[in-house]
Amino acid sequence: MSDLQFRRHRRLRSTPGIRKMVRENEVKKEDLIFPIFVVEGEKVKNEVPSMPGIYQVSLDILAQETNKLERHGVPAVMVFGVPNEKDEYGSQAYAEEGIVQRAIGVIKENNPTLTVIADTCLCQYTDHGHCGVIRDGEILNDESLQLLTETAVSQAKAGADIIAPSNMMDGFTAAIRRGLDNAGFVHTPIMSYSVKYASAFYGPFRDAAHSTPSFGDRKTYQMDPANREEALREARSDVEEGADFLIVKPALSYLDIIREVKDATGYPVVAYNVSGEFAMLKAAAQNGWIDEKAVVMEKLVSMKRAGADLIVTYFALDVAKWIDEELY
Ligand code: PBG
Repeated sequence: MSDLQFRRHRRLRSTPGIRKMVRENEVKKEDLIFPIFVVEGEKVKNEVPSMPGIYQVSLDILAQETNKLERHGVPAVMVFGVPNEKDEYGSQAYAEEGIVQRAIGVIKENNPTLTVIADTCLCQYTDHGHCGVIRDGEILNDESLQLLTETAVSQAKAGADIIAPSNMMDGFTAAIRRGLDNAGFVHTPIMSYSVKYASAFYGPFRDAAHSTPSFGDRKTYQMDPANREEALREARSDVEEGADFLIVKPALSYLDIIREVKDATGYPVVAYNVSGEFAMLKAAAQNGWIDEKAVVMEKLVSMKRAGADLIVTYFALDVAKWIDEELY
């Protein structure tokens, strides 16, 4: 053996203390963003069937939820409105007293230190469930930008700290940046869904947000999962248009894209650990087939390792608790 030449990598793995010294990535509470679904009505707390432990809540219950997040140190929420009234142009998305606008107000009043990120899209608000304006069965790009801009401005007026447009129309970042600036919100950052794939992993979210398209699919605006160079083009044009953060969505099947977007832009990258990724893991955990905490932490740290600075995840509250208890 003595003349064998090799490196002893196991030295740095030999004790928990040494392993900690050389650990390259870590999930911190500061990285976490929790998505919240708000609905009309009173005392509503509906569990989403395909997302155990995740609820749609009405405004009178919202503070209970956000207090929990604040108490455990989750620093940010992403708010999704589920309105009662839907119409052709998604007018509740930009109504002054819309569900999301009121929810933003409630959170800012109760938990002023929570960073409130507003999802800016039309699909929950349109009766056809698409993310833009429709004519003759076609999703129109430029005609949708005006409504998306109005939505973003109304959310900023309601007190949103960050605007997160998720609609994937071309030019939405440029249009929204200009709209925010003209309305005096020059300091409100845009967290753009730069790279959003037409993914089957959004299924449970569409149950939660009632946003399944009534015809067709989203493939003319969301990206083909097969494409990588196109993702970089999307990310670059979003940077040119004024995005401050870049979201890659979904996260787990797209870790390569997270890394490439990070390297190509140097901008803060946000991994969106989507509903289907949550549901798969919950189902396996409920069956006792995997160790939920261990698998969740492994998943999230792999997103950090891939280059994500922040992670939107339905596990955010659980993770913050586990970090408190040093349970992982
Ligand atoms: C809507 C939107 C979607 C998600 C966030 N915003 C879904 C979609 O395109 O249907 C998905 C989130 C998730 O699955 O967790 N524009």
